[in-house]
Amino acid sequence: MNEDSFVTPFAARFELRVPVVQAPMAGGATTPALVAAVSNAGGLGFLAGAALSPEKIASEVAAIRALTDRPFGVNLFVLDPAAPDEATVRRALDAIDPLRAEFDLPPGQALERYAPDFRAQLETLIELRVPIASFTFGLLSAQDVARLHANGTYVIGTATHVAEGEAWREVGADAIAAQGSEAGAHRGTFIGAFEDALVGTMALVPQLVDATGLPVLAAGGIMDGRGIVASLALGAQAAVMGTAFLTSKESGIPQVWKARVRAASDTSTSVTRVITGRHARGIRNPLMQRLTETAGQTAPYPVQNALTQELRQTASRAGNSDYLSLWAGQGASLGRRRAEDVGAAELVAQLEEEWHAAASRIGALQR
Ligand SMILES: Cc1cc2nc3c(=O)[nH]c(=O)nc-3n(C[C@H](O)[C@H](O)[C@H](O)COP(=O)(O)O)c2cc1C
Repeated sequence: MNEDSFVTPFAARFELRVPVVQAPMAGGATTPALVAAVSNAGGLGFLAGAALSPEKIASEVAAIRALTDRPFGVNLFVLDPAAPDEATVRRALDAIDPLRAEFDLPPGQALERYAPDFRAQLETLIELRVPIASFTFGLLSAQDVARLHANGTYVIGTATHVAEGEAWREVGADAIAAQGSEAGAHRGTFIGAFEDALVGTMALVPQLVDATGLPVLAAGGIMDGRGIVASLALGAQAAVMGTAFLTSKESGIPQVWKARVRAASDTSTSVTRVITGRHARGIRNPLMQRLTETAGQTAPYPVQNALTQELRQTASRAGNSDYLSLWAGQGASLGRRRAEDVGAAELVAQLEEEWHAAASRIGALQR
C-alpha cells in the first residue's frame, strides 16, 4: 500500500488502517492479548509498562511479539526515585489503616520500594528496541530521546497544555499525545498546576497542532467514530482511546470495574489525588469519598499509590468495586452501546465502520 492509502502521515508510518491508538493503561488492562489484538486489527496497541519491573516489561513485550508482527508501543511514567520521610508515610497510613481494617488487613507499613526504577525500565525499552515508546508525568532529556532514536524507537511525549508540547519538541520527540481533561486516569501534567492544565480535548488538540508542528494524537473522551472524525478535523493524526478499550474482552481489569464503567454517566467521574497522590480521573466510589475526608494526609505519588495498593487489590479479589480505583474518562457511558465484553478486534472493526460513516455524513452536509 502506498502512503495515500492511509488517512494521516502517522497512520501511514505505522500502516494503521484505522487511525486509532489503544491507550496504555496501567493497572492490568493492557494485556499482551489486548495490545496484539488491536495492532493485528489495524489500530495501534500500547502496553502500559509503568507499573511493571524491567523483567516483566521484557516478558510482556516478548508475548506481544509472539502474537503480532505489527507495530506496538510501550508507555512509561517519567519518575524520580521516591524517598519519603517517615512522617509523610505515617500520616498517610493513619488515614488508610481504618479502611484496611475493614478488610481485615493489619496496619500498613513503610515500603522498601514505592515504584519500579524508571531508569532501569527505560534501559529495558532501549535494549528491546520497541517500535514506539511514549512517556507521561515528565520529560525525557534530549540524550535519552536520541538513544531511543538510535535504536529505531519512535518517541511520543504526553502534553496537557502547549508549554509541555513545546518542551517535548525541544528534546526531539516525534509526536505529542494531547491529553484533554476528559481523559480517564492520571493527568500527565508536569509543568504548572494541575488545575490550570484541565484543557478539554477540543481546545487542546488544535493549539498543540499549531504550536508544535508535530503529529498530535488526540486523547480524552473519544469513544466512537464521531470522536475519531472530530479528532482528525481538529488536526490530530490519530485518536487515542483508553476507556473505550477498558471494557473490552482482552482488558485485564476486574469484571466489577468493567461493570462500573458501563454503568457510568457523563457526571460519574471526578479528578482526585487522594488515591495515588497524583491527580487522576475516576468514577466516584466510597474509596475516593472516604480518602477525600483525610485529603490533607495524602502522600505524593508514587508513595500514596503504593500505600493504598494492598487495600485495592484485596477489594478487587473480593469483587468489591467500592474500594477499587475506578479510573475512567468522561465518555464512559458511550461504551454501553457495544456488546458487553466486545473483543478488541471487533471493537476496532466497529470503529473503522463508524468513522467512515461519520466522515461521510459530514461530507453529505457540504452538498
Ligand atoms: C484505566 C486507565 C489507565 C491509564 N493508564 C495510563 C498509563 O499507564 N500511561 C499513560 O500514559 N496514560 C494512561 N491512561 C490515560 C490514557 O493514556 C489516555 O490519556 C486516556 O485513556 C484517554 O481518555 P479516555 O479514557 O477518555 O479515552 C490511562 C487511562 C485509563 C482509563
